[in-house]
Amino acid sequence: MAEVAKKGLEGIVVAESKTSLVNGAEGKLVYEGYPIEELAENALFEEVAFLLWNGRLPNKAELESLRSTIATEAALPKEMIAQLKSYPVKADPMAMLRTAVSALAMYDADSEDQSVEANRRKAIRITGQITTICAAWDRIRKGKEPIAPRKDLNLSQNFIYMLSGEEPDATASEAINVYLVLLAEHGMNASTFASRVTVATGSDMHSGIVSGIGTLKGPSHGGANAEAMHMFLEIGDPNNVDAWFKKNIKEGDRRIMGIGHRIYKALDPRAAILESKAKALAESSGNEKWFQIAKKLAEAARADQYFIERKLFPNVDYYSAIVLYTIHLDVDMFTPLFAMARVVGWSAHIIEQFANNRLIRPDVNYVGPMGLQWTPVDQR
Ligand SMILES: CC(C)(COP(=O)(O)OP(=O)(O)OC[C@H]1O[C@@H](n2cnc3c(N)ncnc32)[C@H](O)[C@@H]1OP(=O)(O)O)[C@@H](O)C(=O)NCCC(=O)NCCS
Repeated sequence: MAEVAKKGLEGIVVAESKTSLVNGAEGKLVYEGYPIEELAENALFEEVAFLLWNGRLPNKAELESLRSTIATEAALPKEMIAQLKSYPVKADPMAMLRTAVSALAMYDADSEDQSVEANRRKAIRITGQITTICAAWDRIRKGKEPIAPRKDLNLSQNFIYMLSGEEPDATASEAINVYLVLLAEHGMNASTFASRVTVATGSDMHSGIVSGIGTLKGPSHGGANAEAMHMFLEIGDPNNVDAWFKKNIKEGDRRIMGIGHRIYKALDPRAAILESKAKALAESSGNEKWFQIAKKLAEAARADQYFIERKLFPNVDYYSAIVLYTIHLDVDMFTPLFAMARVVGWSAHIIEQFANNRLIRPDVNYVGPMGLQWTPVDQR
């Protein structure tokens, strides 16, 4: 008797990993031993990258070295800039990013080198380059010239600088830094799994990252941050929340985007941190409407029996939509920003996979017909 398939691989453990612990029952997240709350409060994104790539926090010199190497390696080959300019301006930014990272491999001298040292170099380089691609694309599609990264800035500041061409605004770059820290890593999520499956065949890091980007793009995963914002925009006013909830969720068959999670059956700890960031940013920007809509909709869900029974709470994408919108990012750039963070987790997992590799190849129960006889094509 064949084993019953677990739809969506729910509850299946596929690896041992040192990178992060996701405790869904208690709503806890830990990177390499450090609670996410402490990292969000204190860490620079580069410090988290060092932590996930090396299993320990950097000292001052190591941190400065990594910051400056990422900033230097973030520069794109000139052929890549020409290529970005040739993409259709209406292209989905995640489709653009998937294609651009795939193309980057062809300009990377390390691309086919599978040594630990080469994979570490590529992790650093791709992390910097993805940031530059995202910022460059947003300018190119708006008819502006892309701006090269500055060597004196950290990654969040560089992103804001390369988007705007101006001295990076402290509020925006700090918000981006917290967002990147929170999104850098998250256990065996779908895109990380896809990255590991890809490289477990002996394929290269760029291929693993491209698999991650393609998987992150979907609305059930990283695409949910943009979908959540579209939903808030559709609601349009805090006074419309109750009617929208009744029509679309109670009487309709839609889902609240940014709510629910395969692992978290308690509040996602990242959502709690982002809720307070979103609130503070909304208050300081003088535009609290979007935060109020999100808050009121979350309250409607929290009071509803359907959501209570299924343990559905806001996830990381819910309030991050408000944070990113309040600092004036275009909604379709939200998911690329998620990729800018998660590239660190993908590459950490790829390095971990290579350290103890075996082909990942699950089984399937065949439920199709048997014993059919061939008929020539003109008799069908
Ligand atoms: C994240 C998500 C894909 C998890 O999926 P999953 O673990 O496969 O859970 P399921 O889709 O089986 O959902 C379980 C139940 O909760 C319901 N549910 C899940 N998320 C819901 C949501 N956001 N709104 C309304 N109902 C939801 C499902 O309809 C299902 O109900 P049922 O038992 O009556 O069939 C799912 O919660 C979702 O689609 N959320 C919205 C998208 C999102 O925010 N994604 C980002 C995740 S970080």
